Amino acid sequence: MSRRRQIYEGKAKILYEGPEPGTIIQYFKDDATAFNAEKKGTINGKGVINNRISEHIFTLLGHIGIPSHFIRRLNMREQLVKQVEIVPIEVIVRNVAAGSLSKRLGIEEGTPLPHTLLEYCYKDDALGDPLVAEEHIACFGWATQEEMQDISAMAIRINDFMAGMFAGIGIKLVDFKLEFGRLFDGDFSRIILADEISPDGCRLWDIETNEKLDKDRFRRDLGGEAEAYQEVARRMGLFPEDGISEVLDLDSERKKRGK
Ligand code: TMP
Ligand code: ASP
Repeated sequence: MSRRRQIYEGKAKILYEGPEPGTIIQYFKDDATAFNAEKKGTINGKGVINNRISEHIFTLLGHIGIPSHFIRRLNMREQLVKQVEIVPIEVIVRNVAAGSLSKRLGIEEGTPLPHTLLEYCYKDDALGDPLVAEEHIACFGWATQEEMQDISAMAIRINDFMAGMFAGIGIKLVDFKLEFGRLFDGDFSRIILADEISPDGCRLWDIETNEKLDKDRFRRDLGGEAEAYQEVARRMGLFPEDGISEVLDLDSERKKRGK
């Protein structure tokens, strides 16, 4: 068996060279970090669950015409995606005040926002991904104005779709993070959705109790993070064929055997 080439290792994923030019394999790890990797840990089974959740959401978004890098899931922890040039901007979409917005502006967590708020952070770990304005993005050429129009329009459509989907399973979509990439075709490039959408990068609260079902359980030492991710997957109707615990047991068996 030939060893495949690792392109990049991030905090929650590893990227490998794909089987054909222009493709990449995304491997989902159980590693979790917070506060720019100051806090490190693992959430058992997270990689398996995020792989499935992200597959499901990207597939549904494809059905409503949102182009993305997703091609297909390969196995429990890997998916095949199109190679893109990542736009160095994290797009944060907010429906309810929480996290850094609440802290920065003194708005109580849980306060519904009068309309959806888009924020942009410049992707730079050394700087701690600072919040930037569209003017900074244009000034420093991180994305063109045309690209930002595509990005913001897609972010709003993604939010409308996801907020409805989660409401249908008793979950409030408080906020989430998106990343986009440039897909090149000759001299041209177009913007497509990239990275992942999972409880790592979303705030998901139970609609009735406001219980947190996302990575804030890890960030804030609330405990029960693995169970929260499983609960989201369960409500989304994933792993219908064999059940979540069976799939996770199989995964940890394989890990032990060193596959
Ligand atoms: P924030 O309130 O900490 O700015 O986070 C807003 C949303 O973005 C929240 O759902 C978590 C997500 N997020 C990431 O996915 N990655 C990050 O590095 C940060 C800071 C936030
Ligand atoms: N994963 C990010 C980090 O470690 C931040 C977060 O999700 O809170 O920087």
